[in-house]
Amino acid sequence: MNTRVLHYAETTEQEVAHAAASLLSQGALVIFPTETVYGIGADAKNPEAIKKIYEVKGRPNDNPLIIHIADASLLAEVASEVSEEVKKLMQVFSPGPLTFILPRHPSIPLEATGGRDTVAVRIPAHPLARRIIEEAQTPIAAPSANRSGRPSGTDITSLLEDFDGKVPLIIDGGPSSTGIESTVIRVTTDEIVILRPGAISLEMLKAHTTLTVRYAIENDSPDAPGMQYRHYAPKAQMHILEDGEQLSSLVATIKEEGKSVAVLVFDEDTPLPGVRTFSIGSKQAHETYAARLYAHLRAADREGVDVIMVPAVSEEGIGKALMDRIYKAVKG
Ligand code: TXA
Ligand code: MG
Repeated sequence: MNTRVLHYAETTEQEVAHAAASLLSQGALVIFPTETVYGIGADAKNPEAIKKIYEVKGRPNDNPLIIHIADASLLAEVASEVSEEVKKLMQVFSPGPLTFILPRHPSIPLEATGGRDTVAVRIPAHPLARRIIEEAQTPIAAPSANRSGRPSGTDITSLLEDFDGKVPLIIDGGPSSTGIESTVIRVTTDEIVILRPGAISLEMLKAHTTLTVRYAIENDSPDAPGMQYRHYAPKAQMHILEDGEQLSSLVATIKEEGKSVAVLVFDEDTPLPGVRTFSIGSKQAHETYAARLYAHLRAADREGVDVIMVPAVSEEGIGKALMDRIYKAVKG
């Protein structure tokens, strides 16, 4: 299969949306940008199209997908029941990087939910993503665009690495702005459980609810199915740099062992002459770190780096999601 790449910057929103929508309505897969990470999308109501997602990603078929809609008014098409609390949270955080687990509407095939009676629903903030969904006139099932076990695709190099020749169309909207997948929550009558941390933090949710907000624990499975699957581990050995560790002497030791090393560095860090570094922006805000993490890990692997050093950050705000992905990358 020939993969066509449409660069959003070089064309019009209308042309992009039209090309994507016509393929989606034929049951084909389209990779498109969202504000979190790229999605590999299919018509959520077409079981054959959904099967292609699992095939192309190499994803276990019991790991459910996220269904994307353009507008809250379409919620009733994908979920059979929406509580007042969910509606309230949606008014605050949607469109945006927040995914709700809701009772499944019968029009969403079990293929998309891994056989579950619940469905994950998100309204993306990226205007082009919403335009494509609108034009397709159907909800779009889209997991992150990566081969299963690889970090989510956040730039065109990563997308081509995993999917060149495997999908008919990739829409390149430039590097993803958030860079980490959406927060996934389940809302009950008395609590909000965060199944996957993301850019919408525990603190942000707490500020807009009277319910208890907590992170899922192991006993919450199988409600948090994504947690049990293998996660990305780079080919390189990862070292999490804790505050106060002597980076220059660590690097020297690794080099003495004949290994190559790469370091993710903040703007404020002391320069490291002769060391491969990847920029993660300022220490003052960790948004840039989150936005670039996956692309840097993939780039380090492409370069055949032996050891990659990644600084630990405090688990507040986006820091919680960032450290969650870093720990998973270390463990695999
Ligand atoms: O930011 C994002 O969420 C991106 C963009 C493309 O929207 N999508 C994404 O999808 O990260 P994916 O498939 O890589 O992750 C979906 C997560 C998985 O951990 C999955 O297990 C969980 O959501 N999930 C989906 N449906 C669920 C359900 N019915 N119950 C519990 N968890 C569910
Ligand atoms: Mg994923």
